[in-house]
Amino acid sequence: MKIINFGSMNIDRVYDVAQMVAPGETISAGGLHIYAGGKGLNQSVAAARAGAQVIHAGAVGPEGGFLVDALTQSGADAGHLLRPETETGHAVIQINSAGQNAIIVYGGANQCLDEAYIDKMLALGDVGDLVLLQNETSGTAEIIRRAHEKGLTVVFNPSPFPAEPLPYELVDLFIVNEIEGALLAELPLDTQPETILNAIGERFPNAWVVLTLGGSGVVCRKGGETFAHPIFKVTAVDTTAAGDTFCGYFLAGLCLQKDIPQCLKEASAASAIAVSRQGAVPSIPTRAEVEEFLAERK
Ligand code: RIB
Repeated sequence: MKIINFGSMNIDRVYDVAQMVAPGETISAGGLHIYAGGKGLNQSVAAARAGAQVIHAGAVGPEGGFLVDALTQSGADAGHLLRPETETGHAVIQINSAGQNAIIVYGGANQCLDEAYIDKMLALGDVGDLVLLQNETSGTAEIIRRAHEKGLTVVFNPSPFPAEPLPYELVDLFIVNEIEGALLAELPLDTQPETILNAIGERFPNAWVVLTLGGSGVVCRKGGETFAHPIFKVTAVDTTAAGDTFCGYFLAGLCLQKDIPQCLKEASAASAIAVSRQGAVPSIPTRAEVEEFLAERK
């Protein structure tokens, strides 16, 4: 089982700030860092570092070579990328002194994924393979429809949450945080996790759900079964890509035939390590680092 990930590739421009800038305010940044990022790229790197076979489907412009290198160095297959003469996608990220972030993404080349490319990439899939997507590229609805038609398993991380309706009924697995989960369930943002899980289950009875809960860990509902895992407590340096790391490790665990509790445990550990480090791609641990982290906590 492999992962074909239709995912954004961004140049992350990260600014260290004491507090997030407020409307009408101008502030000075204490530092600027440039990292490889993008939700899709981060998830591919995480899944590949975790040991899964990953093909990344995406696009970068002329100045995005180091994003391609980041994929390749992780072990993901970056051999099918589009290389348009369009500016590479980028993100402007503020990191405050508590390690929290605020992110603006500019799509750029990520918006160049068209139907012909989607079909070409899906043709690489075999029945049972996972097709992963987020919501930072063009073609989201087409990817879901065509992957489903081909009998591939559709995994959707709806981030940023889509403004337009999508064929959610064709999704096999949702990976959402509490806000995305509430929006998917069409419930108020302060809805309790159990209610969110129940509502998603009623709306999409064929799908299973992984609901990440920040400091409260993660719950997963598949069929009638619910699994949970707490967070591993670490000092937060930068939460950027922690969710992506979780997602990549969780799916890699599935590809490697691990059971759900083990997938949740390894993904939670990987995510905790990512939180304790700066940047997107540089923060994503290798499988050896995750195993060492878990061994220290036995
Ligand atoms: O999830 C973190 C990512 O969101 C960043 O790397 C940034 O590029 C945005 O896509």
